Amino acid sequence: MRGVGASDLQELIEASMRHSDRLQRHDPASDELAGFAVAMMFFEPSTRTRLSFELAARRLGADVLTFDPATSSTVKGESLRDTAMTVAALGADILVVRHGDEGAPDLIGDWTGRPVVNAGDGSREHPTQALLDAVTLEQHFGGLAGLAMGIVGDVRHSRVAGSLVHAMPQLGIDLTLIGPEGFLPDSDETQTAISTSLDETLPHLDVVYLLRVQRERGAATSEDFETRFQLNEARSAAMKPGAVVMHPGPINRGVEIVDDVADGPRSLILGQVGNGVPARMAVLEALGKAIR
Ligand code: NCD
Repeated sequence: MRGVGASDLQELIEASMRHSDRLQRHDPASDELAGFAVAMMFFEPSTRTRLSFELAARRLGADVLTFDPATSSTVKGESLRDTAMTVAALGADILVVRHGDEGAPDLIGDWTGRPVVNAGDGSREHPTQALLDAVTLEQHFGGLAGLAMGIVGDVRHSRVAGSLVHAMPQLGIDLTLIGPEGFLPDSDETQTAISTSLDETLPHLDVVYLLRVQRERGAATSEDFETRFQLNEARSAAMKPGAVVMHPGPINRGVEIVDDVADGPRSLILGQVGNGVPARMAVLEALGKAIR
């Protein structure tokens, strides 16, 4: 989201809403990307991001190439550069890349000269997640400016938070990062408000956005993490009337959130998943227009 300005973001939100309406009406697939091939290159696990990018590309009429590192020449020692050049040489016009290394999507873009969509790079950014979250909020509240949003938990290791902190303030959302000291960025690293107390902040929030503890990136929870930061039923009851709960998934039920709140009336979690398709259609369509 670094480098995406407020007006581009607003246009992508509007395009996502148009695609969402089209999908709701079950309009037949469109042809904005007909004749183009989109490659899915996921070097880290993914369920909703990969599936929604695939469906988005297909719904725009593109052919989809799916690269799976576990069953590809990566296991024979092929380098990232050679793999990317191979996928581009096969005719992939747009590459969707998820990788554990920060900056890997940019490198692949430089090597291949093809547009690359970052589907998550290390702990750095996951821009289309922030877009689909903005779309979900826009649909729910009918406007974003002035909403108070708290991002709760393992902010430091979260690429979702890494994109939300760039996107949400540009849309007029008032953001607070909430978590234990070890999970928060250093205060001089961010312009965003930070708090180590969920209970103090909770009654003021319109949006409580929970994060998974990213154990694969070395995050460890202290004994009191759940006591202080889990969104349980008592905390859900202390939220403003009309306030909502979000989570990018995958959820670790019983850690950052309990079942009854994840599946309860405040939860927009499955709506976020559903908006992955129109939001990624908007991004792929914009790239298609730029290269057609
Ligand atoms: C996230 C990711 O992979 O960055 N999930 C997602 O794409 N919806 C968040 C996570 O793994 O916790």
